[in-house]
Amino acid sequence: MVMMIVLLLEKASYVAGWRDANGLTPLHKAAYLNKTINLIVIKLIFNYCPQSVEVCDSFGKSILHHLVNRILDLSEGTDFLHQTYMDGLKNHQDHDGNTALHLSTLHSDFIMTYMLTYTFEGNLTLQNNDGLSPSSLLEQKHMSKV
Ligand SMILES: *[C@@H]1O[C@H](CO)[C@@H](O)[C@H](O)[C@H]1NC(C)=O
Ligand SMILES: *[C@@H]1O[C@H](CO)[C@@H](O)[C@H](O)[C@H]1NC(C)=O
Repeated sequence: MVMMIVLLLEKASYVAGWRDANGLTPLHKAAYLNKTINLIVIKLIFNYCPQSVEVCDSFGKSILHHLVNRILDLSEGTDFLHQTYMDGLKNHQDHDGNTALHLSTLHSDFIMTYMLTYTFEGNLTLQNNDGLSPSSLLEQKHMSKV
């Protein structure tokens, strides 16, 4: 499976930028692969097609938004987010004004919420289009003890 993706990317790295009818690229779809391989596949796509990091779907969601509830393991996720090219995505807001931290809070994704709150300085006060910040969502969700 992974080998096949490598071969495809070597042949045509530009396909990683192609969007389907929903604006999803192969990069975004990779987030929904089995959680044991999704981050590996995403890193491969980044290697072959670095410019795909910043591609967003039709709703302004980055790969980080799509990884909410799709990261299996805290240490693997932390390694993944430590890659410098992820820096620009940590506080990226989609068309609803939500960052990945808003979504991870809304969807009770403990791993993403923990990483973005404690390790990667996600902005806790940035408001979405409904005027809600990750910290207000955390309170609503009773996750403030995270
Ligand atoms: C995901 O991959 C693991 C390891 O290869 C496997 O054990 C598991 O059954 C897979 N899960 C799904 C939902 O396919
Ligand atoms: C978080 O976002 C708000 C609103 O854009 C900004 O005023 C504030 O400086 C940011 N905080 C940090 C720590 O970057």
